[in-house]
Amino acid sequence: MTPLLSRRTFLQGSAALGGAFALGAGLAARAGAAPEPQLLTAQLAKAQIAGDGVTPVITYGLGETTHAGMPPVLRMRKGEAYAARLMNRLDEPTTVHWHGLRIANAMDGVPEMTQPYVYPGDHFDYLFTPPDAGTFWYHPHCNTLTQMGHGLTGLIVVENPADPTFDAEIVLNLRDWRLGAGGKYIDPFKPRDAARGGTYGTVRTANWQQEPVYDAPAGGLVRVRIAATDVTRIYTIGLEGAEAKVVALDGNPVERPFLLDRLDIGPGQRVDLVMRMPDSEGARATLGNFRGSKPWTIASLRAGGPSLKRDLGDVAPLPGNPVARADLSTAKRIPLELTATAEHKAVPSVCGSLGYTFWALNKVPWPGDTPDPIAPIEELKLGKSYVLEIANRTPHAHPIHLHGLSFRILSSNKRSFLPPPTDTILLLPDEQAEVALVADNPGDWVIHCHIIEHQKTGMTGYFRII
Ligand code: C2O
Ligand code: CU
Repeated sequence: MTPLLSRRTFLQGSAALGGAFALGAGLAARAGAAPEPQLLTAQLAKAQIAGDGVTPVITYGLGETTHAGMPPVLRMRKGEAYAARLMNRLDEPTTVHWHGLRIANAMDGVPEMTQPYVYPGDHFDYLFTPPDAGTFWYHPHCNTLTQMGHGLTGLIVVENPADPTFDAEIVLNLRDWRLGAGGKYIDPFKPRDAARGGTYGTVRTANWQQEPVYDAPAGGLVRVRIAATDVTRIYTIGLEGAEAKVVALDGNPVERPFLLDRLDIGPGQRVDLVMRMPDSEGARATLGNFRGSKPWTIASLRAGGPSLKRDLGDVAPLPGNPVARADLSTAKRIPLELTATAEHKAVPSVCGSLGYTFWALNKVPWPGDTPDPIAPIEELKLGKSYVLEIANRTPHAHPIHLHGLSFRILSSNKRSFLPPPTDTILLLPDEQAEVALVADNPGDWVIHCHIIEHQKTGMTGYFRII
């Protein structure tokens, strides 16, 4: 076990990141006047999720007004400053993490590491400039099994004025709820499942609805932005009744759009499709989950109006994002092993501990949620290239997410198609993959499994870039 650093040493490390914040602010200034902050109020509400009964949920609303629906889709622009004030109207601390956005460390939303807890009644101001266009999402980084499990997951669309336009756009937030009779929550997880693939929800939703139906122009091209924000479920996305091309994965454009067949996306991952709607009025295209033996419907699109007669063959690659290429000739190699670990009690935490340890990164189980911090997995030098040799030594899949940076998958013993740069790689059972990155964003960057039960029972660590 790596020796524990005192909190003081740790915070001194973080203090060195003042420069990172200054960098963010500098970019903001260059992009024009400071933008008007969006007020994002974390709040308790009630919503109809299951067929029977009303469920107490946690959501974000825009402004101070109460909001009973799904957290809003936040729209930002590539290269333009964005500001939000998180107002905490919950009865516990929270923060916002902007999943996949390569922004300054001080804006990353990890309590005790990049910012203080935002206590009930308090607020925190976020200001950053997203460098990449694409589909991203936001969620708290505190007591997440409950806060996310009860609703706090929203999508972010970072627009690029240079993107092609389509006949319609649909944004889908995929997630489950662990509800029993009367829409009441059941136990958030089962320890024996947490030690395996994770505990699944009982009510499956897209945009907080079961099997929603959306209208789109017949024969039109529809951009469908999908994010898997569930705490556990890995989806195998497929489409029936229409064809679609995959144009982006985890926010980054694919080099050549390809026809969607079946695509796995784990918690935290996104896919952007361009779907060609059926020609006849009323015809449906159905997005489904084809994982497991019984496929089920996620959402449907219903064709309306006279056919626009578009051609899927006309779909061109989206303009790319400025992700630096690692210099493989000088890159230092860092092993990263995903393993199970002996079960023992985790330390209690302000931010929610599950009370177990089942998992580890490089044999070190993160002791709780945001405990007295431990040493980084490795200190990286700003601007240098690295190759992570990730080895999944478990019989379970793990969506491993790195904050603040994008990496390229160089090789894998389990896949032939190498996706574009990403912030989350779904490691298959026994997969060994090499991923490359340039350490171009200073700060302490968390890396963890996005199956929240795995994250919270040890599969967490961080890299320090200085
Ligand atoms: Cu999507 Cu550490 O998070
Ligand atoms: Cu995992």
